[in-house]
Amino acid sequence: MDRIKITGGAKLNGMIPISGAKNAALPLLIASLLTADRLTLKNVPNLADVNLLARILRNHGVDLAVDGKRATPGPLLGETFHLSARDIVDTTAPYEMVSRMRASFWVLGPLLARCHQAKVSLPGGCAIGTRPVDLHLVGLKALGAEIDIDRGYVLAKTPAGGLRGAKVIFPKVSVGATMNVLLAAALARGETVMENAAREPEIGDVAECLVKMGCLIEGIGTSTLRIQGRDRLEGAVHTVLPDRIETGTFAFAVAATGGDVVLTGAKAVHLQTALDALASTGTQVIETESGIRVVRNGAGINPITVETQPFPGFPTDLQAQMMALMTTAKGTSVIRETIFENRFMHVQELARLGADIQLSGDTAIIKGVRGLTGAPVMATDLRASVSLVIAALMAEGETTINRVYHLDRGFEQLERKLSGCGAQIERISAG
Ligand code: UD1
Repeated sequence: MDRIKITGGAKLNGMIPISGAKNAALPLLIASLLTADRLTLKNVPNLADVNLLARILRNHGVDLAVDGKRATPGPLLGETFHLSARDIVDTTAPYEMVSRMRASFWVLGPLLARCHQAKVSLPGGCAIGTRPVDLHLVGLKALGAEIDIDRGYVLAKTPAGGLRGAKVIFPKVSVGATMNVLLAAALARGETVMENAAREPEIGDVAECLVKMGCLIEGIGTSTLRIQGRDRLEGAVHTVLPDRIETGTFAFAVAATGGDVVLTGAKAVHLQTALDALASTGTQVIETESGIRVVRNGAGINPITVETQPFPGFPTDLQAQMMALMTTAKGTSVIRETIFENRFMHVQELARLGADIQLSGDTAIIKGVRGLTGAPVMATDLRASVSLVIAALMAEGETTINRVYHLDRGFEQLERKLSGCGAQIERISAG
């Protein structure tokens, strides 16, 4: 298994290109199941999760071609995927695949809408809580799906004539359930209205793509989505929006080490709450024509109090990174995690570097220490892993991060982007 070795202390200076958003690329790839025509997606990040989903989609019969060579050095412009689901040959998404990535469960809605039946394994993904799928199933049932659960599989079929539009009121905001129902509603008969839908920018991006494919959607960016389903959808060309979590991660890294970095292609409006929180720590955050510039020289980091919330609140996917930054703040910070119940696995690893963090239920109390020192640590989930990278960049001496396959799931060319700005970071291949 690969490891990452970081020698801390270097400031970050320069430019980091922001990749396409993983959490938009995945459902956009899945949207290819909705049409027999070609869907072309630009700016798709080269990530382990994307490659795994590509395998799952091929299994369903999607013909998938990628322009150009993969992972070549040169500008990071993302890749262009051409997907064509002329014939869906298999409506089963097996356990071996779905258990490795939760978002692959989102094939359920599109398969059901297009093929009128689907068998999809219950999902896996990061171990950050129980993460049920009840809301997905409630939503799809409202559209007429008949659903059974048998031996870890969801067995779903539609009545004759397929799914039909309906009103879905979610009792709780869920990105995945909103995505699944949105994708299904695009091919359902009549109108679907989703209330209390998630408003994450990635949902807006998928909705915009569905509009290009011929679906009529009102309320994009709001918590009420109104979708006019179509009998068939057309092909389209769509560019994946920039990754706001990658943006926030690098912004926090610059604040942690000090320095001056422009995050090119980043869109501040996608993570304003996180950027406001960062600004309150004493870091300069400047929107520029090319992206977002983050500057911190000399001054210490002010502590903060923050709680995670669905968009437009502070994202849970940046909670661990914010905590890493707060480990050396000038005082005590309070971070409350309200989305997932088990998303503090980075705490004990940060403690190995010398952080002083107390956990009390859903709240972490972080007492800023004078400095961190390098140590061997272990990546536990995707976002937790990158918080260890941030902490290691600040720490004195050497840190080795084990199990970095978690990072490869969601961060494109992380070492290259950071070393390009002066970080001492290298991957040690397992051989
Ligand atoms: C997505 C993101 C993930 C992010 C999360 C919250 C992708 C690929 N993943 O995950 O990076 O951390 O949103 O912003 O986009 N819940 C239920 N029942 C359900 C579904 C969810 O109770 O049927 C709960 C979850 O356990 C969690 C909360 O709702 O407590 C939010 O989960 P959800 O928004 O669905 O997260 P994901 O879509 O899994």
